[in-house]
Amino acid sequence: MATAGEIAAVGVIGAGQMGSGIAQLAAAAGCAVLLLDADSAALSRAVASISASLRRLAAKGQLSQAACEDSIKRIRCVSTVQDLRDADLVIEAIVENEDVKKKLFVELDKITKPSAILASNTSSISITRLASATKRPSQVIGMHFFNPPPIMKLIEIIRGADTSDEVFAAVKSFSERLGKTVICSQDYPGFIVNRILMPMINEAFWALYTGVATQEDIDTGMKLGTNHPMGPLQLADFIGLDVCLSVLRVLHNGLGDNKYSPCPLLVQYVDAGRLGKKRGVGVYSYG
Ligand code: CAA
Ligand code: NAD
Repeated sequence: MATAGEIAAVGVIGAGQMGSGIAQLAAAAGCAVLLLDADSAALSRAVASISASLRRLAAKGQLSQAACEDSIKRIRCVSTVQDLRDADLVIEAIVENEDVKKKLFVELDKITKPSAILASNTSSISITRLASATKRPSQVIGMHFFNPPPIMKLIEIIRGADTSDEVFAAVKSFSERLGKTVICSQDYPGFIVNRILMPMINEAFWALYTGVATQEDIDTGMKLGTNHPMGPLQLADFIGLDVCLSVLRVLHNGLGDNKYSPCPLLVQYVDAGRLGKKRGVGVYSYG
């Protein structure tokens, strides 16, 4: 198994909001990045946004021009899981759905080299259950980045029941190599941050649904009243309402308390395809 310093090739699966930011971070840290998505349009959008983001950093003097262009060149878009066979570390950032993720882990277990570490960026799903889909549960781990990954300073690492100390140490020092601070969570639904964040977002939907206040006043209240950079409804749009609903369902099913039951307004927005900023409409509309 590769140590953090030996992690040279990183596979990233899912080139959406999170996968594109994770690919950018790994490339800027000097890794060869193989970026895979089921949707080729998502790959094109990811390459454009990563290039723009790195060039912005170069323009601000936070990265040399050469390092910026080299980082862009280190990212190769690929179209099949087989293309990840030489990766030392694979980070999965696909849709927040346990069955779909498990299917991917089964495939990854078959095609990646025996020493490869398989990480999930899941927001809430059990790492132990994802690991149990593979024959290498000691090499499966949660590596939870925050949105937007290039800016947010945290990575929450989740150990499954069988994650080895060596894999934990390698992923911790790799996260530090990406410039992040690490916290470690046991494998409980929603881990640390979403266990606390999502009930707040859900409560904001209840406040809107029951007519306590307008969406603007709810968000302004939490921004100016508690110094959050975004109000909870704006943050939900930023995260993706589909992701918020999936996490709340995992909390509700896993912890069994009605306080996690998703607000009907959130469910209705997702049913209507109002998934937030990424779709141009959620609680708010984006021009
Ligand atoms: N990629 C790269 N850089 C970005 C970026 C992105 N997607 N978005 C913003 N930036 C950079 C900007 O270039 C800017 O850089 P400079 O200051 O050097 O010019 C800086 O970030 C600030 O951006 P803006 O001035 O445009 O906007 P802002 O000050 O409002 O900050 C924000 C934007 C960082 C997103 C801020 O609003 C924020 O921190 N919001 C809360 C984010 C948050 O809570 N994320 C966690 C969500 S929960 C989660 O991720 C877990 C889960 O499982 C759901
Ligand atoms: P997204 O919708 O922006 O992107 C998901 C991408 O995965 C899409 O491009 C889709 O085409 C691709 N995809 C779906 N199924 C696939 C498959 N089987 N194989 C290959 N590609 C596939 O989603 P996102 O917001 O980037 O979230 C991705 C993961 O990261 C989820 O597990 C989510 O819970 C987690 N996460 C999200 C946030 C956030 O703020 N959005 C923060 C931390 C973690």
